[in-house]
Amino acid sequence: MAPLAKREKGGLFPSRDVVRTFHAMPATESKTPFARPLRIGSLEIPNRVLLAPLAGVSDAPFRRICQEMGAGLTYVEMLSSASLQSAPKRESPRLRRDGAEPCLGVQITGPSAESVAAGVTTLDAMPYDTIDINMGCPVRKITAHGAGCAILRDPERVSRTVTMAMARTSRPLTAKIRLGYDVDNRNAPEIVRRLAAAGVAMICIHGRTRTDNYGVPADLQAIAAAVAVARAEGRPDLVVVGNGDIFDPVSALRMLETTGCDAVMVSRGALGNPWVFRHLLDPAAPHPLPAEWRAVILRHLEYHCAHYGDVNLAVRTFRKHLLWYARGFPFMRRAREALSTVPDVQTIVNVLDHAVAETDPGLHRYATEQHAAGGHHHAGDFEPKHDMDRHADRAVANDDHG
Ligand SMILES: Cc1cc2nc3c(=O)[nH]c(=O)nc-3n(C[C@H](O)[C@H](O)[C@H](O)COP(=O)(O)O)c2cc1C
Repeated sequence: MAPLAKREKGGLFPSRDVVRTFHAMPATESKTPFARPLRIGSLEIPNRVLLAPLAGVSDAPFRRICQEMGAGLTYVEMLSSASLQSAPKRESPRLRRDGAEPCLGVQITGPSAESVAAGVTTLDAMPYDTIDINMGCPVRKITAHGAGCAILRDPERVSRTVTMAMARTSRPLTAKIRLGYDVDNRNAPEIVRRLAAAGVAMICIHGRTRTDNYGVPADLQAIAAAVAVARAEGRPDLVVVGNGDIFDPVSALRMLETTGCDAVMVSRGALGNPWVFRHLLDPAAPHPLPAEWRAVILRHLEYHCAHYGDVNLAVRTFRKHLLWYARGFPFMRRAREALSTVPDVQTIVNVLDHAVAETDPGLHRYATEQHAAGGHHHAGDFEPKHDMDRHADRAVANDDHG
């Protein structure tokens, strides 16, 4: 373990006062439909903008940054029921809740109703506010064992899994699904009907099937059809969340208006852009200026180093975030090249300082057409897995992504 040097902790990171002025986001001033509170079973969250569970990404430091920008509910990445049987894995930093996190969900998958129920028993004893069952992970290693979205091929197992899991926890139990296992089996309406009947508090619907890659736009009409089924189930308390291609207020509103969902879940749209939550809650909020951009990245890095303790590991696992952050301003190509191999915190600071010095201090991120288009605004172009270091980012529970 290489502890953070004192100099790095005290000197390099922006002072709290500077930082606080940046992320103040008074939700009450917001005028969007997302700013209203949302009740998920016994849990009340302050707004309708959720951060997805993201394997290898949604750890406590990243969640905190997103929470500070306004995310109403965030999640620990997907865990497999098998991994929860292992004490060392349960104690992994990836599963740790930070004391500053106001509200936190967790997600589980497993090859059978029994294994998911056993995992839910374990999670019920851990400090999470709500438990989600993953019914959408497309990764072959997961689906080959019947976990992730493989469950969609067995609607009967969906009902049994939820019924058994609900008996093991008093926390709100939810499910995240896709439109179906593949294009020939788009059975989301049946799955939604079963989930609603079994009593889940919330259903999140990702508008793709396992065989649709990110080049295929999320199918909002199909989500709308599934939402209509949920509404017809006579469960006014049932929350339905839309997921897929939400990158900005326009795409979030389109999801809400086209599908009739209650809330949205952001996934790739938050990578390198935690400000997306601020924008969804207040579309008039400006994109960050270079100084804020730098300060937030360094605050995220500070949280990251503190969370993982080992500064070498922290720098290595932070590189993907740096690559995602290094978009939206001119002159980013050179910064991205340098950031992809940065060896230590001081070099990160130097590269960011250099990038800020080269940029007009009054230029907001994504202000120029060229850099808006190259950033997070083309869903199909943004395949984050290319930026992830497969070794450093190995997810604790399942060795791959959901
Ligand atoms: C890096 C990465 C990791 C992901 N990990 C998970 C996960 O652990 N659990 C899950 O339900 N979905 C996971 N997903 C899927 C997303 O939550 C989401 O359903 C999908 O990316 C569609 O939303 P988007 O088009 O807004 O990105 C992951 C996606 C990415 C890109």
